[in-house]
Amino acid sequence: MVPPAAVASGRRRDLRSAPLLVAARGGRPAHVPVWFMRQAGRSLPEYRALRSGTGMLAACLTPDLTSEITMQPVRRHGVDAAILFSDIVVPLYAAGIGVDIVPGTGPVIDHPIRTAADVAALPSLEPGRVAPVADAIGLLLRELGDVPLIGFAGAPFTLASYMVEGGPSRNHERTKALMRSAPEVWHALMDRLVGITSTFLHVQIDAGVDAVQLFDSWAGALSERDYREYVLPHSTRVLGSVADAGVPRVHFGVGTGELLGAMAEAGADVVGVDWRIPLDEAARRAGGTHPVQGNLDPAVLFADAGSIEAEVRRILDEGRRTPGHVFNLGHGVLPDTDPDVLTRLVELVHEQAP
Ligand code: CP3
Repeated sequence: MVPPAAVASGRRRDLRSAPLLVAARGGRPAHVPVWFMRQAGRSLPEYRALRSGTGMLAACLTPDLTSEITMQPVRRHGVDAAILFSDIVVPLYAAGIGVDIVPGTGPVIDHPIRTAADVAALPSLEPGRVAPVADAIGLLLRELGDVPLIGFAGAPFTLASYMVEGGPSRNHERTKALMRSAPEVWHALMDRLVGITSTFLHVQIDAGVDAVQLFDSWAGALSERDYREYVLPHSTRVLGSVADAGVPRVHFGVGTGELLGAMAEAGADVVGVDWRIPLDEAARRAGGTHPVQGNLDPAVLFADAGSIEAEVRRILDEGRRTPGHVFNLGHGVLPDTDPDVLTRLVELVHEQAP
């Protein structure tokens, strides 16, 4: 048997029996695997201490800091996966696009993209520009033991929204205007972003990540019709570019209950689900064959212990009626979450029958 390239070069660990990777392929491991989007970050005092004085993008491009921040929630909570500490705008910044992450706001773009000339001037991502990310992954593989490492990228639509709006947006009005008024400019922009996103995922996979997640966080702002016309072909190309890499691919967005069928067609192995729809219904809408990931409302973690436990049991019940279940929140950990509640949540999921 010829091993995949990364195994041959000694980087990828053989974690086929890790609960996350079993569940992502539709198996039923001894316990339901659990990790949290944004598990590293402001909910952890040790994160706030380590980050003080260092900008977000600098932290994402300093390998020992990236590695240490990624490890913090693994040590503290005993989650079934680490997710690389990074951000969806890291590959844009590394490519030379003027972007910063403003605390309390999010990504802000120096020169919003509105015209064909703006798109034509966009750089592509030379893989060497994200070498610090690959180096951080190298450090992590040595520390993680048998805990899988998840890499990720922002999907073209969510990145395009930041680039066209110039920053976070409630209504995505300039983005939606561009796709309709100048579809050739829109598709050219998406095409550039497919290139950058695919390169970023390839760098992470070559460095040894065990799974990848494509975050199309804001896709839920679109109708299914518009999603199919303006977004789906591009996300399909990104996911297709890493189809043969041998790592499971998760595809996640917020408020995507009406889009799950279309999103599942983009080709990922696992469909991420927010808290607005039961997991078994989500799996049905996604075509009935994909394992699902989710979907506890992150705000529920502020409720009393009994209420949290009842929600966890309901979600595990619904997860048993899907082709496979990875427990997660329906979106990222909120910054004011009590980290002890997250630790208890991991224990609770692990104690239940799969
Ligand atoms: O632990 C993990 O899950 C990995 C961490 C992670 C971050 N960003 C770290 C981060 C991940 C997966 C992301 C992806 C990301 N970034 C997405 C997709 C996921 C999602 O939440 O939907 C999006 C939309 C972004 C854009 C972005 N970056 C936002 C909206 C913000 C928050 C701004 C704020 O201050 O409220 C960021 C900054 C960011 N990315 C922080 C972290 C921990 C906060 C920065 C800080 O701690 O100073």
